[in-house]
Amino acid sequence: MCGIVGAVAKRNIVPILVNGLLRLEYRGYDSAGLVVVHDGKLDRVRSAGRVAELKDKSAHTYGELGIAHTRWATHGVPSERNAHPHMSRNLIAVVHNGIIENYEELRTELTAQGYEFTSDTDTEVIAHLVHSHYKQGNLLLATQTALKELVGAYAIGVVAADNPHQLIAARKGSPLLLGVGKGEHFVASDMSALLQVTKNVVYLEEGDVVEVNLADYRIFDQQGNAVQRPVHVSELDNDSVELGEYQHYMQKEIHEQPQALANTLESVCNSQSLVPGIFGADANTIFPQIENILILACGTSNHSGQVARYWLEEIAGIPCSVEIASEYRYRVSVPNPKTLVVTISQSGETADTLAALIHAKATGHNFTLGICNVPESAIIRQSKLRLLTRAGPEIGVASTKAFTTQLAALFLLTLVLAKLRGRLDAAQEQQFLHELRHLPTAVQKVLALEPKIAAMAKYFANKHHALFLGRGMHFPIAAEGALKLKEISYIHAEAYPAGELKHGPLALVDADMPVVSVAPNDTLLEKLKSNLQEVKARGGELFVFADADTHMKESDGVHILQMPEHAGFLSPILHTIPLQLLAYYVALEKGTDVDKPRNLAKSVTVE
Ligand code: G6P
Repeated sequence: MCGIVGAVAKRNIVPILVNGLLRLEYRGYDSAGLVVVHDGKLDRVRSAGRVAELKDKSAHTYGELGIAHTRWATHGVPSERNAHPHMSRNLIAVVHNGIIENYEELRTELTAQGYEFTSDTDTEVIAHLVHSHYKQGNLLLATQTALKELVGAYAIGVVAADNPHQLIAARKGSPLLLGVGKGEHFVASDMSALLQVTKNVVYLEEGDVVEVNLADYRIFDQQGNAVQRPVHVSELDNDSVELGEYQHYMQKEIHEQPQALANTLESVCNSQSLVPGIFGADANTIFPQIENILILACGTSNHSGQVARYWLEEIAGIPCSVEIASEYRYRVSVPNPKTLVVTISQSGETADTLAALIHAKATGHNFTLGICNVPESAIIRQSKLRLLTRAGPEIGVASTKAFTTQLAALFLLTLVLAKLRGRLDAAQEQQFLHELRHLPTAVQKVLALEPKIAAMAKYFANKHHALFLGRGMHFPIAAEGALKLKEISYIHAEAYPAGELKHGPLALVDADMPVVSVAPNDTLLEKLKSNLQEVKARGGELFVFADADTHMKESDGVHILQMPEHAGFLSPILHTIPLQLLAYYVALEKGTDVDKPRNLAKSVTVE
């Protein structure tokens, strides 16, 4: 949550800061602000609105050193006075992503020292603290000293009015990257903000502090020792974060799914057999030892884990449980060192998922696997084994392509474990590989249903509630469909396993309650059909996403969207697509801010 950008160059860096913030808005969009150092002064511009407003307000601002921020409010309402950067006595300015847990006591101490607070944020204490330690222009030392007093998580950028070519940045618990240019340097919360200026990037590590100058930079670790960190060349290009022909990032990302799946499956589909090594060298020794699987994740990523549970138990015959990361981390559980702990995360930075992983390790779990879309993210670095989904940058707050690529990755895990456990013969392996190779084409076919789904969406525009039904491994898909709808259209949507309908939710069904059902042609189809009759008999309006070979027909109050023929175990991936499109088009009908739904943020780096 919150995005930060900083730059030191021999040119006006305001457009770089603003463009960087536009890329980072997915991390929070409650307010935005920047500060530049110019003529020995701090020149600050803030806006209680979006970055676009900041862009207009800062059109005439000039500076060659500066820091900027887009906020997801934690302490203090979204307002201009709470927008970052925060300043101390017009000398020090700070941007911050994270939460300072001991800010109240620091605030009391600093107030006693005569510092005046002008915001309700936790961040402002950092500015005054750095100021209190700032002596003889040594901004690095002042920041390092201040950081020692902070408890909590942070990525920060700091500048001083009398230090025109230097920026100090630091990270602990929140991501931060250093962009290396020619005679200019940058910092940002993620790569997408830097692509406009450089592809050369240093991933700062936990506790690192970096002194960023025009010509060079120096990195210090948590103990204050100077350290070298490798410079990576990012594989992303600027086009991958452009909107292109699409109206919204969510729509673009829905349509990128065939390519994202092809990329994620590339190495596997090009080979003739599945090997544990795709999860890392240690997989060869770890996988044969595991007795069960524990999946930890939040939000959409948790739904992918729930689908995987069906696959892992049925195909690989391995017991699997799935937990909400924020619950697991605080409960007393019974660790089994032979458990494979799988964390799933698009960003690799979700605070609860990361904390759950660290908690699992602390309770004696050594076998850890991270499935993640961001290389070098905290979750990847904390995991012994890894598989990167290659969905590319996902910018829309509602996750789409990350989800389907996670499913593809989890299916690979299932197959590799099934093979190791003697539950997959050579012919079955080839058949699954064949189906995986065909997956991008199959998804493309479902995407062609877009106009029909757009027409269906009109019905939902004036509804306040919706029920989503599914059974078996499609129940988590129904849950994902409901989540998508509520996230971006603000319609209250709940998912139920269809068999549970009669145990309560049926009481809600009337003509104003659309019921969406995922209807694959699987062994539960006939049971599902009975459940749908129960809805119809109560006057409910049904929207059924049915495989073509179910031969379900439209009738009064029953709208059928015909999917391709049943895709076996991979069916959940195909059935996800129309639900994403439905949510998208309902949001369009309602005129909500599709890519930046109210109150949410994409990368939830606070508890
Ligand atoms: C937020 C996002 C969701 C995402 C969840 C987990 O709530 O809005 O789209 O599923 O975080 O994020 P992760 O990056 O760990 O997958």
